[in-house]
Amino acid sequence: MRPLKPHKMRPAYIFGTTFALCVLAVSPRSLPAQTLRPTQPALRYVGTGSCAALACHGGRREPLGLKGSEYSFWSTYDPHRKAYGVLFDDRSKIIERNYRRLGSVEKAAPENDATCLSCHVHPNFSPKSVEFEQHLVADGVGCESCHGPAERWLSAHSERWWKGVSDRDKFELFGMTPTKDLTYRAEQCAVCHIGTPEAEVNHDLIAAGHPRLLYEFSNQQAKQPRHWRIEDDKSRTPDYEVRSWALGQTVGTRTSLRLLESRAQRAQEIHEPGPWPEFAEYDCYSCHHDLKQPSRRQDLSRGDVKPGELAWGDWTLNGTRRIATEKSFTSIDSADSALGRLQRLMANPSPNASDVTRLSRLASAELVPLIERIEQERFSLRQVDGLLSGLLRSSESADAAEWTQAARGYLGVVALARARSDLGGPALDGLAVDRLTSLRSSLNIPTIRPGDSRLVDSPADYDPSRVTTELRSIREIFPR
Ligand code: HEC
Ligand code: HEC
Ligand code: HEC
Ligand code: HEC
Repeated sequence: MRPLKPHKMRPAYIFGTTFALCVLAVSPRSLPAQTLRPTQPALRYVGTGSCAALACHGGRREPLGLKGSEYSFWSTYDPHRKAYGVLFDDRSKIIERNYRRLGSVEKAAPENDATCLSCHVHPNFSPKSVEFEQHLVADGVGCESCHGPAERWLSAHSERWWKGVSDRDKFELFGMTPTKDLTYRAEQCAVCHIGTPEAEVNHDLIAAGHPRLLYEFSNQQAKQPRHWRIEDDKSRTPDYEVRSWALGQTVGTRTSLRLLESRAQRAQEIHEPGPWPEFAEYDCYSCHHDLKQPSRRQDLSRGDVKPGELAWGDWTLNGTRRIATEKSFTSIDSADSALGRLQRLMANPSPNASDVTRLSRLASAELVPLIERIEQERFSLRQVDGLLSGLLRSSESADAAEWTQAARGYLGVVALARARSDLGGPALDGLAVDRLTSLRSSLNIPTIRPGDSRLVDSPADYDPSRVTTELRSIREIFPR
């Protein structure tokens, strides 16, 4: 047997409540999330085809979530199955041409570009094996992209003794990821939906035409056609909905900080320093606004950003702060926390990269006890209502000024509204659903269709006055 080399490579593993039944009293939650979830170990991927047998995961497709039908289900409904195929589209070729500065679209082969494959197939894609692994690549984001490379567990996991192995050992000794653990799951999705130092969607890639990545775990999880039973999630985690939202925000912030740290580090390299400041860190409308006058987007007095400053950390930071307050971690929200100092530093159009490296590392560590608190202490209905009314109150004013803030607010409100019924509050009624749907439609962005001359999906036509009215009508139906 080859030597096992787990622990060191995967310090981030946080133990789940998953096997609470077997390990009851010795709940191993004491292992904190000191660092980010690392990338996959160097184990071999065996390919989704290995899971497809009728007796394994290729059983009857309907009803949804039927055990043993995961493959049939994934291959029919899951958007991830086409993640590789999309690299053959014209849009991908154009992105690749622009990004790699190739002379023509004909020269572009994104399907062989390890950067693309690291998110459109599986993390840590090794370029050397592209040809060899063609049959594996074709599966796109398949079973192992989320459940871990199966080299060591493929035959083991159908053995009788496997059920007795702890989630931790399954992970550390065999390389199977503990997807039942919500924190871990949130990190697993963030690997591709936010990015890592190894593979990221920076402003260069966005300017080349790649969609901006906006990770929202709760919403993306709800959107992924589920090949498992939500009842199992909810029996493990009674505050599943709100906890998913809260972990999405905090784990999202931490993953983004890790990415920022690596961007700042690369900016300091002597040979081929990375781009700095990295524009993708900022509110897009800090720079992109209409050239016509007057333009709402040229009004620099918006929010708390002063003229000449840039708005940083727009997407999850706001939610993370609200959760910190609700969970009595006010230190994170204070001006002299690492996060507070980092935000001020980043508002500067050319922040010192070495200070950013240091502060983002500190800020990331600052979040660890908050994430642990979320894992250990169930949210109450009162806390959910506090978060909900906070979101609704703030989205009334400056927060609805730009699409990003309004979309972030909308997604939070939906997640928290869903969470209320989990915790004994009323279920969403028809009126609430109608109003939320109407708000949703005012946030729609025209999508790009084949043959479009536009390069990017953009909320350029976003109308804050309509959204503000919609938000007001939603506030009427929720508690204050
Ligand atoms: C950090 C991970 C990451 C990297 C690197 C990456 N992508 Fe993506 N890509 C994504 C994710 C996630 C989405 C889905 C975005 C969404 O809808 O939220 C996506 C979406 C796309 C889409 C739109 C797909 C659709 O169905 O509309 C195209 C095209 C695309 N990527 C091409 C590329 C190409 C070409 C490269 C390499 C040059 C690349 N991507 C690199 C993660 C990545
Ligand atoms: C985008 C990520 C993702 C992909 C791709 C994915 N899964 Fe899953 N899978 C999950 C998550 C999250 C869960 C829920 C947590 C759990 O039960 O482990 C899950 C659960 C499962 C379960 C457990 C069901 C149960 O009731 O215990 C099986 C079996 C499974 N997946 C098999 C597969 C197979 C086979 C494929 C490929 C055809 C696949 N998964 C692809 C994320 C993914
Ligand atoms: C290995 C990288 C990877 C992982 C891990 C991953 N995704 Fe994705 N995901 C992608 C890519 C790439 C796309 C774009 C696929 C396309 O459009 O062709 C995508 C698309 C999606 C979409 C459809 C886009 C949309 O917003 O409509 C959802 C939903 C989604 N992912 C949810 C999840 C969730 C939830 C998890 C974690 C359980 C997860 N993903 C894990 C790479 C990944
Ligand atoms: C600090 C200023 C700044 C910020 C912030 C910024 N950009 Fe840019 N952007 C530019 C500049 C300058 C260019 C032109 C040079 C280039 O392509 O990099 C550009 C180019 C682009 C292009 C290509 C436009 C074209 O017609 O070729 C797109 C798309 C784009 N940005 C999207 C975004 C998105 C999305 C965000 C937010 C995530 C963003 N930008 C944030 C300054 C910025």
